[in-house]
Amino acid sequence: MGQEAENAHGGQGAPDALPRHVAIIMDGNGRWAKARGLPRTAGHKAGMEAVRRTVRAADELGIEFLTIYSFSSENWSRPKAEISYLFSLLRHFVHHDVARMHQMGVRIRIIGERKGLEPDIVRLLEDCEELTRDNSGLTLIVAFNYGGRQEIAAAARKLAAAVAVGRMKPEEITPEAICAHLYAPDVPDPDLFIRTSDEKRLSNFLLWQAAYAELVFVPGFWPDFDAAALRAAVQEYARRERRFGGLKAEPAGQAEPARQAEPSGRTTRSKLAGRA
Ligand code: FPP
Repeated sequence: MGQEAENAHGGQGAPDALPRHVAIIMDGNGRWAKARGLPRTAGHKAGMEAVRRTVRAADELGIEFLTIYSFSSENWSRPKAEISYLFSLLRHFVHHDVARMHQMGVRIRIIGERKGLEPDIVRLLEDCEELTRDNSGLTLIVAFNYGGRQEIAAAARKLAAAVAVGRMKPEEITPEAICAHLYAPDVPDPDLFIRTSDEKRLSNFLLWQAAYAELVFVPGFWPDFDAAALRAAVQEYARRERRFGGLKAEPAGQAEPARQAEPSGRTTRSKLAGRA
């Protein structure tokens, strides 16, 4: 996105910069529960409350896109009972939260691999995307059965297939072409990437899209995350200077004229408008 991000934020490193897109790894549900002598599922249930608080807070702050990591491709290795609880939380979310979010004008999108999910879950996900499709408020992107490597591999397979039938030339496989085949190519890259519970890893989340995201690691567990924690992360983001591989922005008139570089790979929304 590059140029688009600068326009949206009023310049690189602007002190009052509001991230357009915030992505969150909601970590620490299990440890939150353990610290209270509760089962891990209680941590996930409390984590759901934190999701509700965070969606409201993000909407109030004027953030345009919020992506949350709800179930990773690797979470299948957890005990069956925990997996089925996480799926029941997703069902609960669709049945009980989506209508409220729809009233708030939230648009809901789901990214991740649908193959391997129960058909009723896939239908529910499609229904809530359909219901909220025309909303113009916050876009909440739920990453479910999501893996960053899997997403990139899926894009590579589609491009390879296009080359195999002669619809594309190998040299046309550019970062932009890869981007256009990701799950949500019209969504701008995350500006702010938050992970709770003080773990400092990306854990296969938005690997391509986070190329220039500002990483903020929050010490508390996810179920304790709230509006104040989101604001603090946004303030930390606003203190960062984003250079996208370029140089520190000079005050107007002092910088030498230079070609504006755009971080390779992200296709802007305007370029992709109307694509699936
Ligand atoms: C990581 O904590 C959290 C998860 C794997 C699941 C996150 C899910 C929710 C917060 C529920 C929201 C769901 C929807 C459908 C919106 P962990 O269990 O790995 O914690 P630990 O590292 O302390 O064990």
